[in-house]
Amino acid sequence: MNVVALLGSPRPGKNSATIARHFVDAAAQRGAVVRTFELNRLNYRGCQGCYACKQTLDRCVLQDDLTEVLAAVQSADLVLLASPVYYGDVTAQLKGFIDRTFSYLVPDYPTNPQPSRLGPKKLVFVLTQGHPDEALFADIFPRYETFLKWMGFTECRLLRICGIGPARVDEVPEATLREAEALAREMAG
Ligand SMILES: Cc1cc2nc3c(=O)[nH]c(=O)nc-3n(C[C@H](O)[C@H](O)[C@H](O)COP(=O)(O)O)c2cc1C
Repeated sequence: MNVVALLGSPRPGKNSATIARHFVDAAAQRGAVVRTFELNRLNYRGCQGCYACKQTLDRCVLQDDLTEVLAAVQSADLVLLASPVYYGDVTAQLKGFIDRTFSYLVPDYPTNPQPSRLGPKKLVFVLTQGHPDEALFADIFPRYETFLKWMGFTECRLLRICGIGPARVDEVPEATLREAEALAREMAG
């Protein structure tokens, strides 16, 4: 199984990245081939809305550091997207990638029963937030899940932890790390 993990936090090795690492390490122990991209280290632009991917090309016309990431996701069996909550959403780094996935959609995507150029894949969404109230920002995952399912991610799962960050305890609880490892054994086994 090919696993591709995209880290959306600008803080290397912190909360969302730690949960992602425990997931991919457990997947690797099950024989998965893992590639991890730290989006904050890459140079790329958001979608330009040029519609070249609907008119002349079957991929994104932009050639930048996200070109390799988009290709890696295309050949993955399981994709992990990790992000802290920033102002009630994913970080700009991850949103920049998500907007570029528009290039995966076929020209007649609004009406085509197979709207995506992606084959079926599994997805894990990792979200960490400073606010301890789980009801806050609970809309993020279902909102993106709708698009991701359309995109070809047949099974979408959420790993979420609330109430962590520099303003509070800046450490992921052991139970969450064990949950990440158990999910990897279930999904990548
Ligand atoms: C610019 C910025 C915006 C943030 N916005 C929110 C927010 O809207 N809600 C929230 O609960 N936490 C918010 N946080 C806190 C982070 O989500 C939290 O610290 C998270 O655990 C950090 O994850 P990381 O260690 O993976 O970077 C924000 C932090 C920053 C720096």
